[in-house]
This record gives sequence, structure tokens and C-alpha cells, in this order.
Amino acid sequence: KKDIIILGIESSCDDTSAAVLKNGYLLSNIIASQKVHEAYGGVVPELASRAHQQNIVPVVDQAIKQAGIDRKDISAVAFTRGPGLLGSLLVGTSFAKGYALAAGVPMIEINHLQGHVLAHFLKEDGAENREPKFPHLCLLVSGGNSQIILVKDHLEMEVIGQTIDDAAGEAFDKCAKVMGMPYPGGPLIDRLAKEGNPDAFQFAKPQIKDLDYSFSGLKTSFLYFLRDQLKENENFIEENKPDLCASLQRTIIEILMKKLVKACKETGIREVTVAGGVSANSGLQNALREEAAKRKWNLFIPKFAFTMDNAAMIAMTGHYKYLNNEFAEMDAVPFARMNI
Ligand code: KG4
Repeated sequence: KKDIIILGIESSCDDTSAAVLKNGYLLSNIIASQKVHEAYGGVVPELASRAHQQNIVPVVDQAIKQAGIDRKDISAVAFTRGPGLLGSLLVGTSFAKGYALAAGVPMIEINHLQGHVLAHFLKEDGAENREPKFPHLCLLVSGGNSQIILVKDHLEMEVIGQTIDDAAGEAFDKCAKVMGMPYPGGPLIDRLAKEGNPDAFQFAKPQIKDLDYSFSGLKTSFLYFLRDQLKENENFIEENKPDLCASLQRTIIEILMKKLVKACKETGIREVTVAGGVSANSGLQNALREEAAKRKWNLFIPKFAFTMDNAAMIAMTGHYKYLNNEFAEMDAVPFARMNI
């Protein structure tokens, strides 16, 4: 039987990534993160597109070299079609077309969100390689999304809960910005929270129906709280940073966990995964482990490299679509918005 070798390309936001996957085993996963955005307090779409344009060829080249494969053995090119920043997606999409045309191989279009979910199926040499069974629930939490997904099969998923406004990662990043921290603030809050008291301050928690989320109220509550405190003491933020971070993080985690627990109870599913940039949060991981022990969940937390945007998960999804004969047309265009 012929090997299935997938070249994955990811360029939906501010990470340029390429990966090579052989029969579901990861051979390489190169990620070039963009530093240009730090000074602006968020991703600047125009700058992101330009950086992708600069990075994409060297990143793909490195991924293929590191994989140690022969270029002509690549079976197909899988690329992120959306959702994401359109200018960024255009770079990966155009590159994939050029590569597929030159190499004479098919293209596979990938939904970035499905990629995050399927990151749990990546296999690596010498690793444990556990994989979740179907159906399972995936808590997908990133800078752009906060969703609870019912995963029925590799390519059959249903969103059963989602944010009606901001994503969890945005709540981290925007509150960090209010405290004067650089972008992205999520990882910094995580670090500082370890030294703070999570019960020092109380912030508003949303009352949203069903399995949906909302984070904009928390952001406003945090902003007004700081504004009031700063009137009394202009050094309030400096003097209370770890406590502020710990309290904010606890609140975000409580919001996320409440609906996840509800979803597990309602569906009767105890097979649980977490994905996306915010799944790297140590407090969230601890809360998930505690809940898993208490409720006998079979829990899957991704390796750090697979929490952030990466092409390995795009290649993994490409592998399943290849097996299903789902190929893209040469006139495929990216979409800024795309549902699972
Ligand atoms: O999935 P991802 O890499 O891409 C986007 O959706 O853009 O997620 C990035 C998000 C950012 O909001 C970042 O602050 C957040 O994930 N993040 C974290 C942590 N690491 C990344 N948030 C909290 N704690 C972390 N350790």
C-alpha cells in the first residue's frame, strides 16, 4: 500500500506554519511566529500578510527538509481555507495552488477549526499516541473562538455552544492590554497568576442560556473595576498585578468550565478534549484535570506546540480528507468566516 504523505500549510492569523505527515505520523512541524505585532497591541492584518509572504517559502522548505522525505513522494497539499484573516489566508492558499500545480498533486482545503479538533489524532514516533473516541466533546478556546463541539467522527462535527461576543483568548488579551501588558497577554497573565490570589477580586460572570458563552461583560467589569480603583490609587495595577491576573484567570476558567460540565451532563459524554491557544493555560488545564478526576472523564490536553496555530493539525485533517477523496478545486478562494 502506498504511503500517504501530506504537506500541511497554515497561515490563518499571525503564524506561518508548514508540516509533513506520513500515514498520520508527524515528521515535521515548523512554526514561524510574527514578532511585528507586539508593538501594536494586536495582530495588524496587513503586516501579517506581508510576513506570511516572507516566511512561507523558507518555512515549507524547512518542513520538507526536516521530514527527510523526497518531495516527489508528497501525496497532497492541505491548506487552511478559513476562518481567519483574509490577506493571511490568501498567502497560504495561493502558495498551495502553486505547489500543487507544479508538483502535479491534489489540494485539500481545511477548516482551521476542524484542524484544532483533530490535533488530538496526530501521532508521533515514540509517543503514547492516545486518541479520543467518538463521540467526544471538544472545548475549542482560542483568540478568535470559544466553542463546545460535539465531535461525531473525524470529519463530522457540530457546534453545540459558542460565544455570542468575544472569545476567551480575547478576554485574556484585552484585559492584559488594559493592564498595560504587551500582546498577546494570555501567556503573561497565566505566568503572573501563579503568584497571585485567585479570590482577591470578583468580576462579573455572564448569565447566558444553554451552552453559549459571553466574555464582553467580564471585560467591561474588569475595565470599570480598574478605573474606580485607579481613582483612589494610581499605582493600583502595579501593586496588584498577580492578584488581578489570578482573579481574572479564575473567572475566565469558571465561565469556561461551567458550560463544559453542563455539556457533558446533557450529552452523557465523558470523552473530553480541549484545543486552541487558550488550552495552553495552566489554570485551565488544572481545572480540567480536577473535573476529569471528579467526573471520570477521559481527558485529552494537547501538547504545547499543538495548542497554538500549527500546520500539523492542518495536515492531520488533510489525511482524513485524503482518505475520503475530498479534494479542492483549483479556483478555491479563502473565507474569513467559516463554520465547522
Ligand atoms: O489558537 P491561537 O494560537 O490563535 C488564535 O486564535 O489567534 O490562540 C491565541 C490565543 C491568544 O488570545 C493568547 O493570548 C491565548 O491564545 N493564549 C493563552 C495562553 N497561551 C495562549 N491564554 C491564556 N493562557 C495561556 N497560557
